[in-house]
Amino acid sequence: MKLGDMEVKNRFVHSATYECMARETGEVTDELVKRYRVLAKGEVGLVIPGYLYVHPLGRAARYQTGIYADYMIPGLQRMVDAVHQEGGKIAFQLVHAGRQTTKGLIGQTPMGPSGKGRDPINFFKPREMSEDEIQEVIQAFGKAAKRAVEARADGVQIHAGHGYLINQFLSPFFNHREDDWGGSDENRFRFLQEVVSETKRAVPGGMPILVKLNTHDHTPREGITPSLAVKYAGWLANSGIDGLEVSCGTILYCFVNMSRGEVPVNELVKSLPLWKRPLGRLMMKSWIGKYDLEEGYNLETAKMIKPVLRAIPLFLVGGLRRVMQIEEVLEKRYADFISMSRPFIREPDIVKKIKEGKVGAVSCVSCNRCFAAVVNNMPVGCYNKGFPIG
Ligand SMILES: Cc1cc2nc3c(=O)[nH]c(=O)nc-3n(C[C@H](O)[C@H](O)[C@H](O)COP(=O)(O)O)c2cc1C
Repeated sequence: MKLGDMEVKNRFVHSATYECMARETGEVTDELVKRYRVLAKGEVGLVIPGYLYVHPLGRAARYQTGIYADYMIPGLQRMVDAVHQEGGKIAFQLVHAGRQTTKGLIGQTPMGPSGKGRDPINFFKPREMSEDEIQEVIQAFGKAAKRAVEARADGVQIHAGHGYLINQFLSPFFNHREDDWGGSDENRFRFLQEVVSETKRAVPGGMPILVKLNTHDHTPREGITPSLAVKYAGWLANSGIDGLEVSCGTILYCFVNMSRGEVPVNELVKSLPLWKRPLGRLMMKSWIGKYDLEEGYNLETAKMIKPVLRAIPLFLVGGLRRVMQIEEVLEKRYADFISMSRPFIREPDIVKKIKEGKVGAVSCVSCNRCFAAVVNNMPVGCYNKGFPIG
């Protein structure tokens, strides 16, 4: 399969997964290089590492990798080289967390398209971005893409989902602006459109630009719905992107929408300060049973998106677990790429095993303790057999 001019050796993609393994400065560590070497050795065609923050004020997590300054390039290059040495391809996911930025890490109130609505976990209201700040962030995406080129990455993915800044601009739930950046679907799309254009200007022709988009925000009031996502996907297709990954959910309003399965309440609660734990526990308990894993839970909305993408490849992510189902998705052309996150945490060599006909399904049980681990600032891994509750 081709994405832009890049050839991918099979249909498997490692969907971006925050590793909690970078230095606090955002620089790449040996641990990160090793993680991606092992994954590429396991024969995944395209590796997309965890989200890279493009601006210091858009940082979501303490041990998140950064791409906002040139001194980060040599580390990123080591990650790229490791994947290439094992015969894989690598694309960097670029993000600004907007109102989902961790306040304590940036020492100021996180920004968003609008200043309305309190954070349901940390109770602060975001700061509305000024025109200058909007332009600065658009440029930051372009500069980050340029660094990805310098680090020899094969492509970039713009993270427009999961409730981060671009998703906030796209969503009528988060975006209450009445200027050129809000008030209509066209205006709410403008920020993503500008980020795509800036990114295109920054990378050589033929280098693929991918986008990860929510097909459903699942916010308390209407945000991105499947029909709005179809509209946005059509506009993205016209803007010259090379691939679209479809996902759902926001971190702010229940991450289990994004990564369906169990809710490891005790493990998640541990990450909260003592005074927040009773309320946190209550909230998380209310999620139990609501978001149990359904196989390929983004498949139905992906089917709605596929026609408007025309020949542009679609990546399906979310709950893909059985080889027969994966084959059906590809044979019936519901999607062009099979993207997975949690299965690779447990079995980095799963593609090799599938290729050799050794397994009929992945062994990940979607217990979500991997997610609880990174929320607790522990390196990502499969903690299904035990989690240090302490
Ligand atoms: C520990 C963890 C970290 C994640 N980090 C990211 C990320 O950095 N960027 C992103 O787009 N999605 C992230 N996701 C979501 C996954 O990429 C994926 O969309 C979701 O888990 C559903 O796929 P799966 O059922 O194959 O896990 C993360 C998920 C988990 C469990």
